[in-house]
Amino acid sequence: MSGHYDVDTVRKEFPAAERITYLDSGFQTPLARPVKAAIDRFLSEGLETAGPKSVWLDRVEQTRAKLARFLGVSADEIAFTKNTSESMNIAANALPLRAGDKVLMIHGDHPNNAYAFLNLRRKGVTVEFVPMTEIVNADSLRPYIDASTRAISMSQVTFHAGHRFDIESIGALCAEKGLYFVVDVMQAIGVVPIDAKAMRATFIGSGSHKGLLVPQGLGLLYWDKSRTELEPAYLAAAGLAEVPADLIAQPDRLDPAPSARRFELGNFNLPAIHALSASLDMIEALGVANIQNHCFDLGDHLIARLDTLSVRLVGPRARQHRAPHIYVIALPAAEWLGHFEENNVRVSPERDGIRVSFGMFNTIADVDRLIEVIQRRGVKPSSRAA
Ligand SMILES: Cc1ncc(COP(=O)(O)O)c(C=O)c1O
Repeated sequence: MSGHYDVDTVRKEFPAAERITYLDSGFQTPLARPVKAAIDRFLSEGLETAGPKSVWLDRVEQTRAKLARFLGVSADEIAFTKNTSESMNIAANALPLRAGDKVLMIHGDHPNNAYAFLNLRRKGVTVEFVPMTEIVNADSLRPYIDASTRAISMSQVTFHAGHRFDIESIGALCAEKGLYFVVDVMQAIGVVPIDAKAMRATFIGSGSHKGLLVPQGLGLLYWDKSRTELEPAYLAAAGLAEVPADLIAQPDRLDPAPSARRFELGNFNLPAIHALSASLDMIEALGVANIQNHCFDLGDHLIARLDTLSVRLVGPRARQHRAPHIYVIALPAAEWLGHFEENNVRVSPERDGIRVSFGMFNTIADVDRLIEVIQRRGVKPSSRAA
């Protein structure tokens, strides 16, 4: 049981969690039955009746509306993309940045965000990396802002040590200084409640194969639609304000759509979007705040058990600064990964150790099993807390 919802019932929807001690949702989520059912329905419809596509597209719009509610925004501020990288690249190339302009990022943050902006060096844009400290908030970034700074781009939650940055204070700083603010929520979404307006983000990007429970190949982009000056670098017919009825391209009518569709390119990943509709229902049935609190409880238990073994946690310990679901343990990955594999425990190697990441289906028993597997091998003094 969990103090927040009936985790045993939720767990039955994730058959993989019955077969493996799955502590790797920060890498990829196991497929849940309702999500698979949505994909199966799409496949059966394709096999038996080839659509109709209008029904499939209606589901896309319903999912867009559902996702918008989930993020506290309106449906015309949501675009579907392929993954986080595509969302970050769309955002980076829509910002009106010129030679001499500067973008601030966090050193060591996810490379798929960093490269989208580093690529703007071709235009003469500079990227300056701010050191990653345990706490990153407006005060961490303020000293780096100068007359050439135009934007800040960063993750809400880090993938490699589970920091949860104070995104809202940084959003407020961007508003104060007139900077664009681009946020990668890939590690946060589905576990940490996201209020896009409270973040004051210009763009928010994510993929969906972690907390959103959908297989790889679907991303999302939130765009603050009041920022009408932000135009797409690429254009397809559906991204236009007026799509020519005869589908003959009109060279003098290139105005982009007033909605985030301006950033969409061509046909959609239909089965993944249908799957997202099912996964959002699952998440909302529990409540994302409950998922967050459930994961925090698992994390508290993990930290307490690591303390009894004197094994060090790499990232932040305080709930205020840590992600609810991502914990890196200072056990050298090269030495330990094989041991976890042999014992049927799925975790990820990270820069500074072994990453344990929780999903909505994990239990205290999963944490205890992990600890038992660590104890079985024994811990060398180098991993022990000082
Ligand atoms: C913070 C963050 N951004 C992005 C990604 C992945 O990028 P993409 O969705 O383009 O594969 C990950 C992990 O896979 C991540 O942890």
